[in-house]
Amino acid sequence: MSVEGSRNESEEQGSSKKKQLILNAFVMNSPGHLAPGLWKHPRNNTSEYTQLKFWTDLAQLLDQANFHAIFIADVLGGYDVYKGPANVSPGVPAAAQFPVNDPLYTVPAMAAVTKNLIFGVTASTTYDQPYALARRFSTVDHLSGGRVAWNIVTSYLDSAARNFGLDTQVEHDERYRIADEYLDVVYKLWEGSWRDDAVVKDRESGQYADPERIRQIHHKGKYFTVPGPHICEPSPQRTPFLFQAGTSKAGKEFGAKHAEAIFVSAQLPELVKPQADAIRALAKDQFGRDPSHIKILAGMTIIVAETDEAAERKRAELLSYGDKEGALALFGGWTGIDLSSYTDDEDFRFTKEPSIRSVIDRWSKTVPGSENLPWNKPRIAEYLTLGGITPKAIGSPKTVVDELERWVEMTSIDGFNLTNITNPGSFEDIIEFVLPELQRRGLFRTKVEKEGVTAREALLGSPWLLEDHPGRKFRWAAGEEPPIYPETTV
Ligand SMILES: Cc1cc2nc3c(=O)[nH]c(=O)nc-3n(C[C@H](O)[C@H](O)[C@H](O)COP(=O)(O)O)c2cc1C
Repeated sequence: MSVEGSRNESEEQGSSKKKQLILNAFVMNSPGHLAPGLWKHPRNNTSEYTQLKFWTDLAQLLDQANFHAIFIADVLGGYDVYKGPANVSPGVPAAAQFPVNDPLYTVPAMAAVTKNLIFGVTASTTYDQPYALARRFSTVDHLSGGRVAWNIVTSYLDSAARNFGLDTQVEHDERYRIADEYLDVVYKLWEGSWRDDAVVKDRESGQYADPERIRQIHHKGKYFTVPGPHICEPSPQRTPFLFQAGTSKAGKEFGAKHAEAIFVSAQLPELVKPQADAIRALAKDQFGRDPSHIKILAGMTIIVAETDEAAERKRAELLSYGDKEGALALFGGWTGIDLSSYTDDEDFRFTKEPSIRSVIDRWSKTVPGSENLPWNKPRIAEYLTLGGITPKAIGSPKTVVDELERWVEMTSIDGFNLTNITNPGSFEDIIEFVLPELQRRGLFRTKVEKEGVTAREALLGSPWLLEDHPGRKFRWAAGEEPPIYPETTV
């Protein structure tokens, strides 16, 4: 086992003094993730998302290029606000995050054909029961050799709430309070229900596992009652590596407490820096964690070609496949705002409706080059069609990598979460044009130093939750007495 530490493997290798970046490919188990209408583009294979080959080809492409992770978004309901209520139809032709298959099932197939790629899978603490979720992640952590990560979300769509039998969503901050207890439950199951050495597989004595080393967790809290024991034996990481992406106060606090990697999202590095600083300060001051134990990744959409002009032409060509209705459906789901009653000419910078104006004000003030342009429906659709609301780096390899490097220098981020407009097209372009330039500048690994390690070893240098992580206190290590859980009876 490796020595615990906070440095990721790519930081350690090579003689370059520059921090090597963590690169994550952002996808969804759907024909249309963040590029409504683009499913029909010739370089997009996402219409084959129901086929294992789509996933195994993609995983191999990324693994061979030394990407650190593939991260699969997920939602549990349709985008039904635009032209609603409860109407998914406008987004259907564009496949605007509809249909969406479950992400977890793709992982074992991808793991079987790759060595190092980490698989980040989104699952919701609002709609999944902790006992069942713990089992599913343990299963996949086993089957992937410890390469699974959980993107913890509390979910944001009313349509999901209705489909899970609620009239409306659980209130926002209450969702995070539930999530916090949820994490205690799964830590108890993953870390503390089985001792490290509970599985003995002793053919002589006929003992598969030692019952003395397995225990119930007796969790009885405000939201959950789970006696245990965990029905799965300890997997390579026990707790899967933990991703999160909260932006609200409650979301940031939750992330600063539990996450091992956090996705931040803003148009400008000037805005990412305070987000990253705030997360790290919270982690240290409120939760006693070493801030370097949280990797921070910024979202980015890259359109790259041989020259700046060729990249601009590529942008225009991609945009020609966009679907305005699909984009407005996504806008509706993300913001809760139905723009269907407005004309195409309405400039939302000046609209009377405050909720719309606040979203658009933020965009018009921060999306580079847009200060003096009208923000009307066609422009919102155009912006969202190429990578949703992530910032865009468009140009030659030099232009794009200059921009990435600028972001890294201006912020304290550890890497990027790279969206796709076409899949695998966007990733093929990044691999062909961007990675060599990053590598030339010492910003990205040229090989994986330690092959076949778990996600946590690759990103934090330790197989187990680090000592300062709140889940660590639940761990039942070999030869030790079980830790006492204050609120439970062991
Ligand atoms: C890069 C990124 C990926 C996200 N992926 C998902 C997802 O797959 N499913 C989901 O329900 N929410 C997802 N979210 C939303 C966040 O979980 C979170 O709800 C959102 O950032 C708002 O923050 P808040 O919950 O603190 O208000 C994502 C956010 C970001 C920035």
